[in-house]
Amino acid sequence: MSYVKVHERIFEPLITKEQIGGRVEYLAGLLTAEYAGKRPIFLAVLNGAFIFAADLLRQLQFPHEISFVKMSSYQGTQSTGLVTELIGFKEDLSNRHVIILEDIVETGRTLKLATDQINQMHPASLKVVTLLVKKLKDQPVYPVDYFGFEIEDRFVLGYGLDYDGYGRNLAGIYVEQAKGVL
Ligand code: IMP
Ligand code: MG
Repeated sequence: MSYVKVHERIFEPLITKEQIGGRVEYLAGLLTAEYAGKRPIFLAVLNGAFIFAADLLRQLQFPHEISFVKMSSYQGTQSTGLVTELIGFKEDLSNRHVIILEDIVETGRTLKLATDQINQMHPASLKVVTLLVKKLKDQPVYPVDYFGFEIEDRFVLGYGLDYDGYGRNLAGIYVEQAKGVL
């Protein structure tokens, strides 16, 4: 993996495709132990979680459903603090075992909006799986049930995550270079 340039910003390798693959397999094992026989419904948060969801769910050998919600809080590399729901919940989630799939949890605002809405539908259970959690300065890491990797408070892209719409197709995860390195 070498460097990636998007709109004059330079990103360097952080997590390899192989490391991601290993962690996705591990998460699939945990989910199998917990949900096999429960016919859960996975809700992947678009756009970012689409690749993670595709890889993870193809490793699950038990019956489950998959649906999508679309939420957005980012503009460029900054969170706007305002989460917008672009495609809402269509399924009846009452009495269902629901698992949210996220690409990355940072402030937890996106997740809070999603979990509040799902809880109003009285699911049998609700858990959150995210590929990445970001450690913010002076703030505890937002709690999730399962995660792939914990990363520093720096902007990342690849494996579903984008910078201004670009970079989602990269097989690994890249981090923006600290200023002054090049
Ligand atoms: P939160 O609502 O602050 O937890 O932000 C979560 C959402 O912001 C994620 O679902 C991503 O779509 C986006 N996001 C947060 N950090 C990054 C990043 O480093 N790169 C790309 N998108 C990010
Ligand atoms: Mg997201």
